[in-house]
Amino acid sequence: MNKEVLNDINLLKKYHHNLVYDYTEYPTKANWDYNMGNISYREALKDWVPKNSDSNTLFYIHTPFCEELCYFCLCSKEITRDYSKVKSYLDKYLFKELDLLEKTFEENNLNPNFTEIYMGGGSPTYYKEEEFESLMNKLGKFIDFDKIKTFTVEIDPRRVDTDRLKFYHKFGVNRLSFGIQDFDIDVQKEINRIQPPEMVSKLLTSEIRGLFPVINFDLLMGLPRQNPKKIAQTIKETIKLSPDEIQTMYVHYKPDVRKYMNRMVRNNPMPDFYERKAIFVEATEALMNAGYDRAGFESFAKPEDPLIKAMKEGNAYYNSLGTQTGEATNFIAVGSSAHGALGDDYYFQNFYEQKLYKESLDKGEFPIYRGYKLNIDDKIRRDVIKNIRTYFLINYDEMNKKHGINFIKYFKKELKELKEFVLDGLVIINNNNFFLTNLGKHMSPQVASTFDSFHNRALYNPDIITHKKYNPVAEHGVEKDPYFSE
Ligand SMILES: C[S@@+](CC[C@H](N)C(=O)[O-])C[C@H]1O[C@@H](n2cnc3c(N)ncnc32)[C@H](O)[C@@H]1O
Ligand code: SF4
Repeated sequence: MNKEVLNDINLLKKYHHNLVYDYTEYPTKANWDYNMGNISYREALKDWVPKNSDSNTLFYIHTPFCEELCYFCLCSKEITRDYSKVKSYLDKYLFKELDLLEKTFEENNLNPNFTEIYMGGGSPTYYKEEEFESLMNKLGKFIDFDKIKTFTVEIDPRRVDTDRLKFYHKFGVNRLSFGIQDFDIDVQKEINRIQPPEMVSKLLTSEIRGLFPVINFDLLMGLPRQNPKKIAQTIKETIKLSPDEIQTMYVHYKPDVRKYMNRMVRNNPMPDFYERKAIFVEATEALMNAGYDRAGFESFAKPEDPLIKAMKEGNAYYNSLGTQTGEATNFIAVGSSAHGALGDDYYFQNFYEQKLYKESLDKGEFPIYRGYKLNIDDKIRRDVIKNIRTYFLINYDEMNKKHGINFIKYFKKELKELKEFVLDGLVIINNNNFFLTNLGKHMSPQVASTFDSFHNRALYNPDIITHKKYNPVAEHGVEKDPYFSE
């Protein structure tokens, strides 16, 4: 069933002729407003927090340093072996940002309801214990740790031991997210990241598993030298290590933005769009056969994991951290490059460049370099796109009730544009809903693009002839497809 997507290379080519956004946010970052900075952020916090003092909110902390470069990496980080740089970023700048936030909360009597903490990077494991502890003390000034349900730290397995993990546990960390990417030694050599499965196995002792109810692995799909056979072996090693959650991600290859990415292809090219799909399909099948449930399209979890519960309750969301439980809808973020989302009202992002990040903080300002205030149309589209990316289904009645619209009229143009997707067997349009078929789920970013009002590129290549052999009526038992009956 899953492998059917590999049957028609033309279909894949047709829908992959243009780069498509992942839609971890909508509107996508390139459309945010570069005039929104320090003042807009303060105003937004004053506007949003009092109205949402009961809404679960995630606190994100970015650490922009790593000891060694992985050639595939698109994360915002500086490679250094000089710990004094890391310490100075923390003591002199991140703490300044945290003080500014605390002061803003205090002066305006703002009490965000923090229920989740996420430390990402770069490598948060870079902080030595003393610095980690002082960071926790700082957070304790405005976060009530008793209310924190999930506290994640991204773990670089090459830089920690079990004592370090136990140390994290003392501060309430209960979810570890391991950067695994691939277990195959040939692939690891190409990407400059050697970490055999034994290294991870040594960390995941029964004591550690007892302390951390959720262990997540990040795996990348589409690295040089990966192929279906090799990924099957990586998944076999993964299953042996039994993580609770697995986030798979297609590799974004942007050598124009990060020149060093060229080093990853010094011996072998990147897999093409068809090979990537074959790798992903192989990984997916192996995970499902091993008993993992799917959360969204790229995320997997054990059936009893909180993520699967959230999916069933309609509380899960696809965002920049992968498919996440509902806690992650609102997030306030600190650290260079970090971005936050205040419900569906605002987005804000800090400067990527540490120099600019630091200059703002030296002036006593929030280091925001762009933001966005969503209007009513943006909010409706954001909701549609999030549902396409997480649940692959849009129920018109639900949308009508939630947003006070008539979905069919409101999105008349977009539903028409989906005609080609319907003919290709990717989408089924009914009188009261539309949904993505199993084949269509592979093209959910392309379907989501249809609802992106900023998107002005062709959604597919009309010159590629695809087999119009699909019969939605027979396959899904739909009595009458309203699109065809129009
Ligand atoms: C922000 S990074 C930090 C992870 C951590 N430093 C580690 O040990 O790798 C989080 C995840 O982003 C993903 N990532 C990094 N570069 C990527 C790329 N070029 N395309 C897709 N995902 C990428 C990786 O899977 C990585 O685990
Ligand atoms: S350790 Fe993580 S953040 Fe650092 S270079 Fe590697 S993938 Fe990027």
